Amino acid sequence: MATVRSSRQGILSDDSTEAREGIVEMLKKAYWMELETVMSYISNSINPDGVRAQEIVESLQEDITEELGHAQQFAARIKELYGVVPGSMDFTPEQTYLQPPDHQTDIVHVIKGVIEAETGAIEHYNAVIEATEGVDPVTNDMVIAILRDEEGHRRLFEGYLREYEMEGLA
Ligand SMILES: [Fe+2]
Ligand SMILES: [Fe+2]
Repeated sequence: MATVRSSRQGILSDDSTEAREGIVEMLKKAYWMELETVMSYISNSINPDGVRAQEIVESLQEDITEELGHAQQFAARIKELYGVVPGSMDFTPEQTYLQPPDHQTDIVHVIKGVIEAETGAIEHYNAVIEATEGVDPVTNDMVIAILRDEEGHRRLFEGYLREYEMEGLA
């Protein structure tokens, strides 16, 4: 039986093992970031009280599905690069800023937390794009598309924050 020939070129080749493993580590971090964001957006889309919170709550509800989709894309790419998608025991939470506020009417806390989470994602995804440039075009392309979503999320929540600032509430 003939053995399967490994690719001679590109990120799946034996010569690219080191680069590939480095990218997989970055993708694992991205995967955890997305999953923690899903957790935080679920809690912050349910906890808030008050009429003013409605817009924010609805916006976060829409984002949950999108962030979950990102997590799935990162997981799939980890596997394609011969990595293994980690299990939940490897998870370490980091989003201190998106914990429930002391008062559930404190929607500014939520808006600022979302901006921070999106900013963290944007920074990490820019780093992934830089690391994969000219090395792994498929990951590069995928992360550019995801980066666009995160920039859109941040911009939306910056707009909400501006509104609260205008009214002297933030
Ligand atoms: Fe995301
Ligand atoms: Fe996002």
